[in-house]
Parts: sequence; C-alpha cells; structure tokens
Amino acid sequence: MRIVTHPETMRDLARRARRSGESIGFVPTMGALHDGHAALFARARGESRRLAVSVFVNPLQFGPREDYARYPRNDLNDARICRWSGVDWLYMPTAAEVYPPGFATQVTPGPMGDVFEGEARPGHFSGVLTVVLKLLETVRPDTIYLGQKDAQQAALVMLMVRDLDLPVHVSVCPTARERDGLAYSSRNAYLSPEERARARGLPRALKAARQAVRDGADSARAILAEAKRTLTREAKPDQIDYLALVDPRTFQPLTRLDGRGLLIAAVRIGRTRLIDNMPLNAPRSRP
Ligand code: PAJ
Repeated sequence: MRIVTHPETMRDLARRARRSGESIGFVPTMGALHDGHAALFARARGESRRLAVSVFVNPLQFGPREDYARYPRNDLNDARICRWSGVDWLYMPTAAEVYPPGFATQVTPGPMGDVFEGEARPGHFSGVLTVVLKLLETVRPDTIYLGQKDAQQAALVMLMVRDLDLPVHVSVCPTARERDGLAYSSRNAYLSPEERARARGLPRALKAARQAVRDGADSARAILAEAKRTLTREAKPDQIDYLALVDPRTFQPLTRLDGRGLLIAAVRIGRTRLIDNMPLNAPRSRP
C-alpha cells in the first residue's frame, strides 16, 4: 500500500493506472476507520483493479460549533485497517493542500441540502459536495462507494454526479451494524457505557417501524408513532432532532407509504448525535 499526501502524486498514480486499463474504485472517508468503512473497502476491493481510499477530515463540512477539532483522528490505525483491506493508495492530503490560501468556490446543493441533516447543520452538505467533487477530480475513479448509513449524503452525491455530468458510477452500500444493531460510526466512541446501552434503542425503533409496515401500517403517522414509541422507551434520547418518513431520492416527507420510503432519524444520546435510517417498502411494491 502506498500512502500519498500530495494531490499531484495521487493524480499521477491514478492517471497511470487508468492508462494501463486498470479500473479504479474509490472510498472517501474522514478516518477513524471502523467495520462500516471496512465493509465499503471490501465491496470496492472485489469490484476494482485498484482501490483508492482517502482519509481527510474536511473542515468545510463542520459548523463553527461542531466537533472538527475533537473529531477522532488515528492515522496509524487507519493505515493498518487499509493495509488489511487491500487498499492500493491511501490518500491523506493536508487541509492546506485541499484548500490553499484564497480558496473560495463551493458546490451548492439543491433544496435537498437544506432539510434534515442540512437543516441541523447549515452549510454541511455544501462542504461535503465540494470535497467529494475535488477528490473525484483528483482520483477520477470508475466507481465511488458510499454508505447507506449517510443516506442523505449519498442521495446528494448521486444528484451532483447526475446534474454536473460527472463520469463516475455511484455505488451505495448497506449499513454495517454491530451485533445489537447499532450502526458503526466514528461518533460511537463518544458514548459512555450507559449511553451505548441506550443507543441500541435507535435501530430497534427503526425495526419496530418496519414490523409495523409488515403488519399493514401505511400512514406515515402510524409508522412514525410506532418508531417513536420504541425510541422513547428504549433509547430515552435526550433530544430527537428528527424522525421522519421521506422519499429516498428527494427527502421530501411522505404522508403515506405506497412505494419506496425511507425512515430517517437523528437523536442525541447524552452529547452525542447519532443518525440512522431504514428503507421501507410498501408491501404491494415488493416483488
Ligand atoms: P465518514 O463519516 O468517514 O464516512 C465515510 C463513508 O463510510 C461514507 O460513505 C459513510 O456513509 C460510510 N459509512 C460510515 N459508517 C458506515 C456504516 N456503519 N455502514 C456502511 N457505511 C458506513 O461520510 C463522510 O466520512 C464524509 O462526509 C465524506 C463523504 C468522506 C466527505 O468528507
């Protein structure tokens, strides 16, 4: 595995591989790698001749009161996980290289960037899309791999790729979870043991809603009431930022589930903010 810090070196390595006819898979991350990231690496490894992973804690996507400074960083462990995962190029640029003095241009997402995660974190998705566009331009992969865990981010990247005619395929991979259902997240490290025990109530609430749909519920009101009941009882969240049933492509709220839906949630357990989601399909749209 080669660790690359300079954008020009990364660009060059990828260009040479492309010229030799090698396909390139790319997984962008902010490091603090865990089994959720490793699941993306495994998928990408199996589908591409060359695997590039970026580790870059992107200052542009953190709000002024967010955890940029205390976001977990562990370069040695990240490199170890990448080596185990068969990564060819671990790209770790510095913030000064990605955003040199005078940097001013950003991607503006459409209305989907202003709701839910975008409403809770103003400017967040502009920061995400800007860095993803820059990373895509440096690596120029055949396929970019993203996690369903961050469903709104994945939907916004897919829309950017389509709207800006970017020549890359977007692959969205299922959420990897711990044995009790909690989605792997770098932020899980912030949870105290007592908070960690409550956190499993979040995936349980999503599963309870899925069961309600299987039992015939189809109004958003009934589905959300079921999720909220379980969430309140088991996670005892300190705050529910949102709990909503939306169209998975637009993140517009649905009042009734009559095709594909996505149940999305963001809660605070103690001081830690956790997000999760569950695709829900109306029974009659199932094959
Ligand atoms: P980060 O939070 O490090 O996540 C990197 C990728 O891993 C994202 O596509 C995310 O959805 C995926 N991921 C995280 N946890 C996962 C899980 N439990 N199961 C499956 N996939 C999971 O998302 C970002 O970084 C940044 O916003 C980034 C896209 C790198 C831009 O800075």
